[in-house]
Amino acid sequence: MAYNKLTIVKHPVVARDLTILRNKETRTADFRMAMGRIATILAYFALKDLPLKEVGISTPITTVQGYEIDTEIIIVPILRAGLSLVTALLNFIPDASVGHLGMYRDETTHEPVDYYSNIPSGIDKAMVLLVDPMLATGGSADDAIAFLKKKGAKNIRFISLISAPEGLKRISTKYPDVSVITAAVDEKLNDNAFIVPGLGDAGDRYFGTT
Ligand code: PRP
Repeated sequence: MAYNKLTIVKHPVVARDLTILRNKETRTADFRMAMGRIATILAYFALKDLPLKEVGISTPITTVQGYEIDTEIIIVPILRAGLSLVTALLNFIPDASVGHLGMYRDETTHEPVDYYSNIPSGIDKAMVLLVDPMLATGGSADDAIAFLKKKGAKNIRFISLISAPEGLKRISTKYPDVSVITAAVDEKLNDNAFIVPGLGDAGDRYFGTT
């Protein structure tokens, strides 16, 4: 896919854990563990070009030039399933702010329905990490990005676990400035707009609500 803002994360642990997540026999506890491990690897790739600023510090022995991250970071999970990716990012950036966007996909129209939003101030200057494990039609991500841009966000990275070509095309066409980090680009959507082969409903499987 010709999309120069797309990173598809390749890693043996990701390949093993995607298999665990896709397997319908996987129990909730194992699903959560696998999601947590993949989230850590996605976070590593999503953060690997963070801007740094130099700072002078003193070790117990001498002084040395060190580094601090030179941007505010706001993590925004799309509820519910996006919550599964937050902890991994906070482990790397413990002082990040976390906003929330509540939206679910209407089962008939497949259109996103917004039900909650709480976005921290300073979004215009921050790097915004929008997270949702599934990018299917792209309707939810599209809505979320439009909302964040309206709030002033200028630097948005979208982190997903599994993406459908349809959703990727929608986001890359409409928002060519938004980077996408994902672990898999699956084959297609089915008639219910579920990703094929996918893993089913990520929120239900992660929260044990099937
Ligand atoms: C799922 C998923 C995304 C959205 C993807 O959420 O977590 O948010 O659908 O579909 P789209 O790209 O076609 O918009 P769901 O509606 O199942 O809500 P949940 O996270 O509360 O389970």
